[in-house]
Formats: sequence, structure tokens, C-alpha cells
Amino acid sequence: MKVLLVGSGGREHALAASLAASPLLTGLYCAPGNGGMAGLGGKTQCVAIPATDFAGLANFACKTGIDFAVIAADAQLVGGLWDVLEDAGIKSLGPSRAAAVLEGSKGFIKDLCMDAGIPTAAYRRFRTPEFAKSYARTLGQTGGYPVVIKADGLAAGKGVIIAQNEKEADDAIAFMFDGGFGESGAEIVVEEFMVGEEASFFALSDGTNVVKLAGAQDHKRAFDGDTGPNTGGMGAYSPAPVLTAALEDVAMTQFIRPTIAAMAKRGLNYMGVVYLGLMITKDGPKLVEYNCRFGDPEAQVLLPRLKTDLLTLLLAARNGTLKTLEPAWRDDVALTVVMASGGYPGAYEKGAEITGLDEAAALPGVAIFHAGTERRDGKTFAVGGRVLDVTATGRSVAEARDRAYAAVAKIHWPGCFHRTDIGWRALSRKGNA
Ligand code: AMP
Ligand code: GLY
Repeated sequence: MKVLLVGSGGREHALAASLAASPLLTGLYCAPGNGGMAGLGGKTQCVAIPATDFAGLANFACKTGIDFAVIAADAQLVGGLWDVLEDAGIKSLGPSRAAAVLEGSKGFIKDLCMDAGIPTAAYRRFRTPEFAKSYARTLGQTGGYPVVIKADGLAAGKGVIIAQNEKEADDAIAFMFDGGFGESGAEIVVEEFMVGEEASFFALSDGTNVVKLAGAQDHKRAFDGDTGPNTGGMGAYSPAPVLTAALEDVAMTQFIRPTIAAMAKRGLNYMGVVYLGLMITKDGPKLVEYNCRFGDPEAQVLLPRLKTDLLTLLLAARNGTLKTLEPAWRDDVALTVVMASGGYPGAYEKGAEITGLDEAAALPGVAIFHAGTERRDGKTFAVGGRVLDVTATGRSVAEARDRAYAAVAKIHWPGCFHRTDIGWRALSRKGNA
């Protein structure tokens, strides 16, 4: 089977590695891919078509005889690439543009939670600043600050502002309605701040049947001790000890299944990965947000633990046959440390050569997923903000962490940085150190 994988980050490299190991695969085409993705399993090549070129991707897929396409990122799913590929006759992993509203509109999903009785923060939706400011003030004065201001649409992961006081809330609301996040902020959600520990939980839906995948925990802030600016994610591990077996059952029965059912009731057939962002509060788990795809860097720690063939699972989601499948997982812990370019998530230098990759990859349990890299003349160069996901598996969080950091220590390019405390929450729990 020939598969097209659309995307170019560390998540896509992890997906490519799992797809390349599938007995069903004859060829994997990564558009546009990155410096780590060519040549995997001898069956993988990168194709220089940007993920934003929907017509170009559909053309290529038809010409090449692609049997199945995997769309990895939110921008393409919310933008409707699934619909373009399926209209061209290419079977693809969604969701469709309509069903990607799960991630594409924060207000939609909050309303759906209310209707379906899914626990989430108190909120209201607004299209003009005056009432939004007054509601934020009410929340701040009754429940205390911070309050949370969210652009309704996708904003490259930046659309959430945690306002610490009335002025910050007013400024955030004005910024969004002034077009600070473009069209994404034409409508906003103002909501209560939830206190607790955050975790990511993943499931796969074929529209009717839903199977549990696994949990993970991300580290969103740039620097140690969860300080510094928000990023796409600086490291992760799976499983996440905070998500006990009981909480995973709750995630399936009280969040994911009712959500997919409520979508179906609205005529939205949700087929694809469901990423549930949960806050484990003292009153139990509550929804932070939904995403319509694997997380990055969560995929880099989920997929190395998956025993079941990934391609078989994703095809079953597309074909409506998930009912007969139950994904199996290795008992190992996987942990990934993101190595980034100095300055990320702000401006950063591009083009430095990365050294030590082969030596690092040869260490026990280590797999290095590339994100912002380019290969030229047998050398690897850093060309993105998040550059590498240095991943290791082990029998415990501590072992996976020690292995990952031993590999990180071998890798270098000028200006690179990483967090040194990935896994701290899991390690601070009894029995995990
Ligand atoms: P994003 O992934 O950019 O949507 O980031 C949203 C992040 O903002 C979440 O991962 C949380 O850390 C935080 N967040 C969003 N909504 C809330 C909330 N109601 N209470 C507390 N934190 C929140
Ligand atoms: N790691 C967060 C995300 O993928 O949205």
C-alpha cells in the first residue's frame, strides 16, 4: 500500500517511523517531510510539496496511485485537506473540514460540552469587546484572577491568553478584537481559570466506534520549572502517571464517547484522532480543549509504545471498522526532550550544522525524531524552532529520562537549548523515581 503523509515536524517523523514499520506498506511519501524522514525502512521518500498546497497534494496523490493519506496537522485538517483529497478519490484519515470544528472553534466545543454534560470551565462566547470585558471582570471579581481569554479559531497555538488582572483581560480582549490573531479572534471565549495538573489523552474514532489510545504529559513552557513563554511543547512522556486507569475510563466514558455522540447528533461524523486536553482539578477532570490530531511532541512518546500496527489502526478508523481492534501497548515508558534553536519560541538563527546525531542514536533505547532539520551533502542542519525530539524508552520514567539526556549530551549546534527537567511531575510522584 502506498501512503502519503502530510507534514514536516517531529510528530510526522514519529508517524513516518511507525508507518514505515507496517507490513502493509510498500511506499511512504512525506510531503514535504524533513531531514530525518527520507529513507526510513528503505521505503520512504520526501516530496517537495508544501502542506499548504492542497491541489498540488491531490494531484501528486492521484498521479502516484496513493492508496491512503494521513494528514497530521490541525491547520490542514481545519483547512479542509481531507475533503480535497477524498473528492479526488484518495482515501484519507480525517477528520473532514466540518468535523474538525472540534479543534477549529473553541466556542463550538464549549457549547457542545454544555449540551452533553461534559465537565469544563464556566465560559461565555463574545463577538464584541464590551460584554466580554464585563464578563471577564465578573469572573475575576467572583472567582478571582486569572481569567482565560481565547480566540475562537486556530491561532498557531498562541490564541490563549491567561490574564492575571482586569487590565490584562481588557488588553487581551482588545488585542483579539483588533485582529491580533487575525480572523481567529473575530469571536472569543472568556472562561474561568482551572487549577490542577494538565494531561493529554488520545483516542481514535471511526465516527461510530471509538478506541482508547494512551495518555501523555507535555511541557509547554520554554524553560525549566515550567517558566518562560509558552511553546508548542518542550518535552513529553507516556504514560502519564496522573492519568490512572480509573481516570482513563472517565476520559472515555464522560468525555470522548459523549463528544463523538454529540457530534453525530449534529450531523458531524468524526473520523480521526481525538486529542483530549484535560485539567485534573480537585473536583475531578475537566476539559481544557479538544484537538483533531496527534499532539506534538506527544506523538513522539505514544507511537514508540504502540505494539499494534499503526497503519492498520488508521485505516480501520477511515473504513469504519475500528470495532474489531484493540490497540496494544508496550509496558515501557517513553520520554522525549525537545532540542530547540536559541531564541525559540521567538526569532532564532537558522542553518547551523548539527553534530553528534549518529553517536546519540546508537545509545540503548534511543530514537531521534527530527522536527526542523534539513539534510544536505550527508550533513544535518537546524532550520526550525523545535529542531529535534530526542526520545528514549526505558522500564521507568527515570530510566527513559536518563537515556534521553545521555543522548542529548552528545548532540550539539551553536545556540541550541533544551529543558533539563522533562519528566519532573512524574518523577516527583512516589514510586516513579
Ligand atoms: P493551547 O494549547 O495554545 O490552546 O494552550 C492552551 C493552554 O492554556 C492549555 O494547555 C492550558 O495550559 C491553558 N489553559 C487553557 N484554558 C485554561 C483554563 N480554563 N484554565 C487553566 N488553563 C487553561
Ligand atoms: N503539544 C501540544 C499540541 O500538540 O497541541
